[in-house]
Amino acid sequence: MKQHIAPFGDGIIVLRLVEERDLKTILDWRNRDDARVWFKTSDKLAFDRHLAWYNSYLQKEDDFLFLVEVDGRSVGQCGIYDIDENAGSAEVGRFLVAPEMAGKGYIGRSCAEIVRFGTQFLKLSYLFLEVMEQNTKAIRLYTREGFVEEGRSGGLIRMGFGRDRAS
Ligand SMILES: CC(C)(COP(=O)(O)OP(=O)(O)OC[C@H]1O[C@@H](n2cnc3c(N)ncnc32)[C@H](O)[C@@H]1OP(=O)(O)O)[C@@H](O)C(=O)NCCC(=O)NCCS
Repeated sequence: MKQHIAPFGDGIIVLRLVEERDLKTILDWRNRDDARVWFKTSDKLAFDRHLAWYNSYLQKEDDFLFLVEVDGRSVGQCGIYDIDENAGSAEVGRFLVAPEMAGKGYIGRSCAEIVRFGTQFLKLSYLFLEVMEQNTKAIRLYTREGFVEEGRSGGLIRMGFGRDRAS
């Protein structure tokens, strides 16, 4: 079973674990043409498939998906997964903004909070992510938050954060 994580944040944004009642909202964000193209599975997802994914996610102990809220309003999502306590590492990603909330700095803040969660709460020494080479907006955001390019392959850039750069 997944560990319950109490909501946390920086005073502006709050990250809380995604619940079943959020699935329709986040699927609508995810299925927009200008969002889904940036994910590895880029086709439109049906709700049934999304729900099946969520039910298998609920069984995982190494995967947390957060809804980002500002004043109780849903503004985006982000995640940390493939958490490997032995290796002290995890992948971060699934960053997605509610379209009407884009460009307000909320996802940059979310990235900073997920890094803080990974390094301080989970005590991981190394975080990484993958981003498509053409996704310049996301790459700028990750760079601002301290991620450094480590390599490229198949149109993807791998970026890392932390002292231990061994993969
Ligand atoms: C990538 C993505 C999550 C970024 O979301 P966002 O809302 O634009 O992110 P932020 O607002 O935190 O930062 C973006 C911009 O806002 C600016 N900004 C930051 N704080 C701000 C503030 N307080 N007021 C105004 N603008 C601000 C940043 O400088 C940044 O500008 P830039 O894009 O010119 O560099 C969003 O574009 C998205 O959902 N894309 C589709 C999915 C995707 O690509 N996900 C990543 C997959 S790897």
